[in-house]
Amino acid sequence: PVLVVDYGAQYAQLIARRVREANVYSEIVPHTYTTEQLLAKNPAAIILSGGPSSVYADGAPNVGADLFEAGVPVLGICYGFQAMAAALGGKVARTGLREYGATDTTTIGEARSILAGVPTLQNTWMSHGDSVHEAPEGFDVLASTAGAPVAAFANEAKALYGVQWHPEVKHSSFGQTVLENFLFKGAKLEPNWTTGNIVEEQVERIRAQIGTAKVICGLSGGVDSAVAAALVQRAVGDQLTCVFVDHGLLREGEAEQVERDYVAATGVKLHVANEQQRFLSALAGVTDPETKRKIIGREFIRAFEAAEKAVLAEAAAEGGQVQFLVQGTLYPDVVESGGGEGAANIKSHHNVGGLPEDLQFELVEPLRTLFKDEVRAVGRQLGLPEEIVGRQPFPGPGLGIRIIGEVTEDRLALLRRADAIARAELTAAGLDDDVWQMPVVLLADVRSVGVQGDGRTYGHPIVLRPVSSEDAMTADWSRLPFDLLARISNRITNEVDGVNRVVLDVTSKPPGTIEWE
Ligand code: XMP
Repeated sequence: PVLVVDYGAQYAQLIARRVREANVYSEIVPHTYTTEQLLAKNPAAIILSGGPSSVYADGAPNVGADLFEAGVPVLGICYGFQAMAAALGGKVARTGLREYGATDTTTIGEARSILAGVPTLQNTWMSHGDSVHEAPEGFDVLASTAGAPVAAFANEAKALYGVQWHPEVKHSSFGQTVLENFLFKGAKLEPNWTTGNIVEEQVERIRAQIGTAKVICGLSGGVDSAVAAALVQRAVGDQLTCVFVDHGLLREGEAEQVERDYVAATGVKLHVANEQQRFLSALAGVTDPETKRKIIGREFIRAFEAAEKAVLAEAAAEGGQVQFLVQGTLYPDVVESGGGEGAANIKSHHNVGGLPEDLQFELVEPLRTLFKDEVRAVGRQLGLPEEIVGRQPFPGPGLGIRIIGEVTEDRLALLRRADAIARAELTAAGLDDDVWQMPVVLLADVRSVGVQGDGRTYGHPIVLRPVSSEDAMTADWSRLPFDLLARISNRITNEVDGVNRVVLDVTSKPPGTIEWE
């Protein structure tokens, strides 16, 4: 793999994704890895990421000079570039001059090395205080900026490179060119990490892990569980049984997409648990958001366990035993919850509507090495319905946390209609890719006066919450075109009984969360 050494500024995942976009497999490792540990992973190349530190700060992570003698191509980025310069005897100066954001960068001499194909004057994304003032011996200075006399360098003979800016960020106009120059010209790698290869490799691994045992998988209606199950189905066919708990909190058409379209596309054996009444009864009279979430999580586990028992009994009757459980864990979850390899614990992964703790199964996690966009690509490769593969994020507790107030059957029906209209109009406007997600929220405890036809109404407002985001940690409200908002508003107030007002949420996150509960 190409190893991305994480110096802790959340750029590492982005770098790893960009490398994979170039069809090269990459993995993230913590900066606490010694040179020996790095080399033990047999890296094809190493990228040192940016980080928040100054190389002069107390306890700043450094990089051993021995890494650069190992014959492995290395690219240093931002902090990684400075740490590399310092380790090899270059000069890093505390200029007190910060460069932050879009910065003009000038190529020195002709465009060459990792800057091949990049114009003399390019726009790069910077974020640094210290600057490299002298390149180490044997290095050629490739570019400079007003604040950084050495903004990029190369030692072709040793395949060592560095850039002060962040090529992984889309604001660096030629960032991907620089990364690909490093991968294909500097490190001479082959672009062989493709969706087809991922599927083949995972199918083989799953077969090897499961053997002839039986395996069970929960489908949520979301992308991850759908793709994970489809991979397992491809690998072991009928040894897999999927369980779908229909809690009645899904949006219009979603249960059918699982029960009909997904089954048709994959041929998976599906056990459906119709548990709408269980959830409605448990949620009756409850209005507190956290309580709702807890109840939904608890009931989900109970419902899943009941369904699981039925599946286990069926397997036993056939003389088999269920030994494995499929989980749609993604690579960012693995990295962020420590990676099992001592990476910094940024956040422990939450999994609402998750599974019981006293697991009697061994886990099968075919998406453990994949980023979300790769999961979608694999899903498409496997022929899954686009409604599922392209689905925007949707919370586990579903519409239960989008009804502000008590959850009832009528209110669910009303919200489902309003949500379906809003989504259909967004799709018709061709803007699905411009919004991260668009929660549609029913303020069931609020009523306002309206006038419809000849009469006065006293109805509920619907809130539209379209947001743009990279990772849901922060978000901004989407500037949707007024005519689209007008169409959604007209249709919802005309077509959904009980709604006489549509309002737009114009709050970023923070301070607002994306969901209302
Ligand atoms: P917030 O509201 O915290 O949401 O800004 C961030 C992202 O997480 C989704 N979300 C959930 N996803 N189970 C999930 O699987 C949950 O309980 C849950 N709550 C929020 C939300 O839709 C957004 O994408």
